[in-house]
Amino acid sequence: MAQADIIIADEGMLAQAVELHNTIFRPKREAEFFKRRFTGRCNPLTLLARMGDRPVGFWIGFELKPGMFYHWLGGVAADVRRNGVGRQLQEAQQAWAKDHGYEFIRCECMNHQREFIHFAITMGYDIVGIRWDSTHADNLIVFEKNLIE
Ligand SMILES: CC(C)(COP(=O)(O)OP(=O)(O)OC[C@H]1O[C@@H](n2cnc3c(N)ncnc32)[C@H](O)[C@@H]1OP(=O)(O)O)[C@@H](O)C(=O)NCCC(=O)NCCS
Repeated sequence: MAQADIIIADEGMLAQAVELHNTIFRPKREAEFFKRRFTGRCNPLTLLARMGDRPVGFWIGFELKPGMFYHWLGGVAADVRRNGVGRQLQEAQQAWAKDHGYEFIRCECMNHQREFIHFAITMGYDIVGIRWDSTHADNLIVFEKNLIE
């Protein structure tokens, strides 16, 4: 199992997460899209997974409300998936959130994002809701994990 280094990205390193995002997701986004999402948010946290000099994963979250951290967006480079990098990122985010006093992490994905559904269940998230997302014309699955139990 490959081990990545997990680092907290400062604003200067956001470009690496954006570049990785654009190899994984469509539409492609500019750094401005991420900065805007962080506006007015407490505790935005961008984690990068690196193997050597290569960024292979990113994981972005922020406070949703007091007590609850929100995993907003993340992904692992396609050629290194199923090597535990997503698990490392999720565990690092979870440890950080717990250290900062959060009781829960919430995350969401579309029903068609099956990799993430499998991943979230394996990581111990509960499914706590489902709603129709008209923007994506798909059901949105809502997951939560209790960090205290
Ligand atoms: C979801 C994602 C982040 C998982 O990253 P990863 O590094 O491959 O995950 P890991 O290797 O740490 O997987 C941990 C466990 O989750 C489960 N899992 C992960 N991917 C899975 C898949 N495609 N099918 C079934 N189970 C899966 C497995 O139990 C796995 O453990 P195992 O490989 O020992 O069986 C990655 O597939 C990804 O980036 N997908 C595209 C982006 C995406 O869908 N993001 C979610 C929307 S924000």
